[in-house]
Amino acid sequence: MTKVDDAPCGETGGAAHFPERWPRSFGRRKGRTLSLRQSALLVEGLQNRSIDVSQPLDALALKRLFPDSVQDIWLEIGFGGGEHLVWQVANNPRVGVIGAEPYLNGVVSAMDALVTRELTERVRVYADDVLALLRGLPPECLSRAFMLFPDPWPKKRHRERRLFSAHLLDKLAPLLRPGAEFRFASDIDDYAEAAIEAARSHPAFDIARVFTTDNRDTMPDWPVTRYEEKARKQGRGATFLVLHRAI
Ligand SMILES: C[S@@+](CC[C@H](N)C(=O)[O-])C[C@H]1O[C@@H](n2cnc3c(N)ncnc32)[C@H](O)[C@@H]1O
Repeated sequence: MTKVDDAPCGETGGAAHFPERWPRSFGRRKGRTLSLRQSALLVEGLQNRSIDVSQPLDALALKRLFPDSVQDIWLEIGFGGGEHLVWQVANNPRVGVIGAEPYLNGVVSAMDALVTRELTERVRVYADDVLALLRGLPPECLSRAFMLFPDPWPKKRHRERRLFSAHLLDKLAPLLRPGAEFRFASDIDDYAEAAIEAARSHPAFDIARVFTTDNRDTMPDWPVTRYEEKARKQGRGATFLVLHRAI
């Protein structure tokens, strides 16, 4: 089994080159014990399809991580089991996707689906805290980003762990091309409200659309994620937010 560092990034410094402290926004890194096949998938996936930002990447080095056919690079933050990521890769043949997800069982599920569908070529995985990844990417390299149903941290004393924040927007903004889209969704009302407020007051972002589950079918290229489905089953609708990087 791959050895996993369970220490909170914010409390240890996370990636060694990342000096800032930030509260850890994710829960566990490991779930059910992986089978031999899953462990092999994980090790192989991390060896061949991961993205190394221990040294900051320049634009050319990033481009070289993907096939020549890739014209745009998208980022999915917290892809969970990877259902949305896999759908986007399958449906956008000119796009390369970087997925950040510290939950290793989720990374395995995504790798499994990507291998089965022969889609690994256009994917790079960062199996850790996205904030460390953001620090290593070159300016204006992303033409779309997603953060769908981030961990809700409902208790007041945990609010600072919420990943969508002015801090995250500060780090993401310089990496997005002008006009690039950033999609966010949450089934937690006060999280969605706080996200709208953070976006509204951030100079680098414009709010292009806000809609709820009632208007969900207006976005056919935004598939339902596992957590959205779970929330639906529990009777919770969601709020969806489309931001644009200000031009
Ligand atoms: C509630 S799940 C949602 C998963 C998926 N987006 C969906 O909608 O089904 C939130 C995910 O975000 C991941 N996450 C939390 N903090 C993160 C961080 N700092 N960087 C990357 N992923 C993070 C968690 O590990 C978890 O898998």
